[in-house]
Amino acid sequence: MCGIFGYIGVKSAAPLLVEGLRRMEYRGYDSTGIAVLNGEIQVHKKVGKVNDLKKILPKVIKGNCGISHTRWATHGGVTDENAHPHLNETSSLAIVHNGIIDNVRLLRKKLESKGIELVSETDSEVLAHMISIGLDSGQEPIEAVRQTLRKVVGTWGLCVMFKEHDMIICAANGSPLILGQGDGESFVASDPHALTPHTQSVSFLEDGDIAIIRRGGFKISRLEGGSSSTGITILEEEWGEADLGDYPHYMIKEIHEQPEALRRCISGRLDYANGNGKLGGLRLDSATLRATPHVRLIGCGTALNACKVGRLAIEKLARVPAMAHVASEFRYNDPVVDQLGLHFAVSQSGETADTLSAIKEIKLKGGLVFGIINVVGSTIARLCGRGVYIHSGPEQAVASTKAFTNMVASLLIFALRLGRTRSFSRAKGRKIIDEFKKMPDRLEKYLEDPGPIMEAVDAVKNAKSVLFLGRGLSSPVASEGALKLMEVAYIPCLSYPAGEMKHGPIALLEEGSPVVVIAPDDEMKEKTVASIHECRARGARIILIHAEGDEIASEGDISIAVPRCDPLLTPLLTVIPTQLIAYHAGLALGCDVDRPRNLAKSVTVE
Ligand code: F6R
Repeated sequence: MCGIFGYIGVKSAAPLLVEGLRRMEYRGYDSTGIAVLNGEIQVHKKVGKVNDLKKILPKVIKGNCGISHTRWATHGGVTDENAHPHLNETSSLAIVHNGIIDNVRLLRKKLESKGIELVSETDSEVLAHMISIGLDSGQEPIEAVRQTLRKVVGTWGLCVMFKEHDMIICAANGSPLILGQGDGESFVASDPHALTPHTQSVSFLEDGDIAIIRRGGFKISRLEGGSSSTGITILEEEWGEADLGDYPHYMIKEIHEQPEALRRCISGRLDYANGNGKLGGLRLDSATLRATPHVRLIGCGTALNACKVGRLAIEKLARVPAMAHVASEFRYNDPVVDQLGLHFAVSQSGETADTLSAIKEIKLKGGLVFGIINVVGSTIARLCGRGVYIHSGPEQAVASTKAFTNMVASLLIFALRLGRTRSFSRAKGRKIIDEFKKMPDRLEKYLEDPGPIMEAVDAVKNAKSVLFLGRGLSSPVASEGALKLMEVAYIPCLSYPAGEMKHGPIALLEEGSPVVVIAPDDEMKEKTVASIHECRARGARIILIHAEGDEIASEGDISIAVPRCDPLLTPLLTVIPTQLIAYHAGLALGCDVDRPRNLAKSVTVE
């Protein structure tokens, strides 16, 4: 989603800005722009990718101070005018803004009543004019930004650059901004990935912080006045730039990275001697685990599907009530938060605004919340303070694949840990651990020979819709398969617990309708077969994902076998064919599989 990168130093700003934007491309966006200060503020902005922007940039842009932006449209269409940076009327200042201004209608009206003409449809542009009014009334730049933001209801990661002042002013509230200090140069970015080529020494602005950045360093204070407690952090882990290697796309590369990613995720976390899971980052003792009345798992999209697997595993192993919650609904349903309950915010990026707002709600009500996160140092990881890094490594394709596997693996390990504080025996724990340790090899084995994926692609690629079915732990896998195919190939997909199919979705079935059924060799299998027969009787074409060597294979028109494993661990394997079907269907239909239309990698607006 939207990204910000800014620079003030001694080097030429424009190439650094363009490179900063390029490093944030994986987040998804629809337009880009830069503003560079060299006596005047020069703005270049355009709909399209960073490469499209590069094409319209003059060969040389002088100036060593600048701000830049990748925009993912919220207020106003995808147009050059709506792209950031935005200027005030006299072009004496430029702003880039991430976040949403909730009271924009009122603020626009006020500006219009003063005769100010807004040239874009964005909410962000009002900030440029409001700050400008403050400057015209004699306020210092920091004061003008402060006074403006006090009138704003909403979220911001904001950078302001001035024609007359050698500085950038930054402010954050509900949208991340990170300041970086180099030698005689300072940086600001919304994503640590854009900063790490320049410096490891950074400050993550807290909500309500405002900062002046100059060449020699930055000064952070609070919006309401007074100093900020925000300190310097040394970025611990830099993933570097994931290159494609021999793969044509990040999505397929990341699908194939799953065995190795899973190895990293479970390494050191399975304690065979005690038949237990070890998740040190939770800093939770057995007494607290024993006392918990319930576990709530919160996430969006793929993370939500992982939560649904996790909740079933927790109930199965630990016999503790567990729920999976849609993060965007959580806060607004005024949830009852039990202070003894355990809450987990699950997120690949660690920046998802809906998940963040759920965490804030839990904290406000005195609840305990832990992160299950991929991106180290991300906003959610810092806000939770305690949690589990899933160690998937950089996920560049917008559609999440290897993060799902590791979210599920982390939640399974937690289920084991919680179960062991209750009735779950050491012997049973050891049995699961034995199986768990074999999973990376099994994923590898499957990927070496993934079966008739292309036949499945032929069956789904021109379908009006595709139905995904599964039961028990395979029901969220069906949801994940449907989400992936919809995202990457733009095919309408539905997912249902198989038993629910006859209560409605069966009406969709006609001769040749593709139905993807996830039916590993577990206690639900026979029930799922009954649903297959019901689909078949209506002419459906069954794409069956099943355990290797299982006689159930004959139930599928197209049967895809995955290696056998403990039923509890099947989601780690059965999801992979669904990812491959989505990837190849997307390719067959000419879609941009790594950057599907309208989607963003990190969804930083509610
Ligand atoms: C699906 C996908 C999205 C994300 C969702 C949550 O392929 O990528 O549905 O899963 O936006 O993102 P995170 O996990 O970053 O909170």
